Amino acid sequence: MEDYESDGGRMLFAGMYVSDIAREFGTPVYVTDEQRLRKNYRDVYGAFSKEMDTRIHYACKANSNLAVLRILQQEGSGIDAVSIGEVLTCLKAGFTADRIMYTGVNVSDEELRAVSDLGVMINIDSESELERLALIGPGSQISVRINPDVGSGHSDKVITGKKGTKFGIPADRAINVYSRAKDLGFDIRGIHAHIGSGGQSVEPFVDEAEVLANITNSLGEIGIELEFIDIGGGIGVPYKMNEEPMDLNEMAIEVTDMIKMETDVKTIVLEPGRYIVADTTLLLTKCVDVKDLGTKKYVGVDAGMNTLVRPAMYDSYHHIAIADKFGKVCTAKYDVVGPICESGDYLAHERVLPDPQEGDILAVYDAGAYGFSMSSNYNSRPLCREVLVNGGKAELIREAETVEDLWRLQKVPARLLR
Ligand SMILES: Cc1ncc(COP(=O)(O)O)c(C=O)c1O
Repeated sequence: MEDYESDGGRMLFAGMYVSDIAREFGTPVYVTDEQRLRKNYRDVYGAFSKEMDTRIHYACKANSNLAVLRILQQEGSGIDAVSIGEVLTCLKAGFTADRIMYTGVNVSDEELRAVSDLGVMINIDSESELERLALIGPGSQISVRINPDVGSGHSDKVITGKKGTKFGIPADRAINVYSRAKDLGFDIRGIHAHIGSGGQSVEPFVDEAEVLANITNSLGEIGIELEFIDIGGGIGVPYKMNEEPMDLNEMAIEVTDMIKMETDVKTIVLEPGRYIVADTTLLLTKCVDVKDLGTKKYVGVDAGMNTLVRPAMYDSYHHIAIADKFGKVCTAKYDVVGPICESGDYLAHERVLPDPQEGDILAVYDAGAYGFSMSSNYNSRPLCREVLVNGGKAELIREAETVEDLWRLQKVPARLLR
């Protein structure tokens, strides 16, 4: 991972001083670099489309801000959506239904009806869902989510492709499910799997592609020809300074070779989320308190697990710098902790930082994926702002919530007010 540039000890982000952005918009704030977002999309599309016909369905769970979605819509991306909320958000951002694929898990009839009425392709996760969709949306376009018993990910909590997880249809039941889908009259388009999120090696994707290719061939023998093989998302990114990014070209060659060697399928679909957005975004937070408790030193900041839950939830690492002390000598080790009343509320443990002081702006790196989209109102803290930077200008793409917003949908029965 490469570090940002600086000017006289002041950190720069997409040509702007980080601390100026924080001053203008307040903290905490997520700040996204539009050009980086466009580049990431082009890099992943470019690597795979050199090898075979490629469709990218951005997994919008990673970051579903309307401006981010709009940029990816302009780039030509499709969408992987996991809820009716995500489907509607992407339609609002300008995607047409035919560019959205819905991959739900434990899907209710109401949601299935809503998605199917919109004409969105559905990735079937279970035999129950298949039978219910046959009644709700007969003849729908479908693909089937397979559990390939191949897993990969930065944490056990995000490995989805191994036996024993709740996702998909086991590979050994796939043929039965597809022939049932054929008998039910579905418009069968593809096969799908998602092995997990944040894996850093190519091998599991090749193993996954092999499982999907073998099933695809067996389907050919019973007269089911598929248009695409969808290997899901999961391309990892380096979060630490000394880590190297995954080699996308190598991944593209190895995975598409497997598909081309083993099947006649012409199109590969990928659903990257993290890869496209992670390094586009900084979370800026202000130091509000510095505490030396003898055993440990703490930098208290105004962003916590409510703003960025990944460290608390997965023990994830995010690099942190003090924006206007960039490149300065680090003095001591600190835990960077937030305002939430939990001892698990932290952004970083044991980081060497250059003499943090109240008022300093801290930049939390690689916060674009599963950052804002997993933030919450815990401790009655309103969700923070989001800003987009392009061409030396910063624009607000989400206003901060207020405490009044938190009350908006709540009701106190009249009898309690007497
Ligand atoms: C079905 C599916 N596709 C794609 C993704 C995106 O994964 P990533 O952000 O690691 O690329 C996920 C993430 O959980 C997923 O469940």
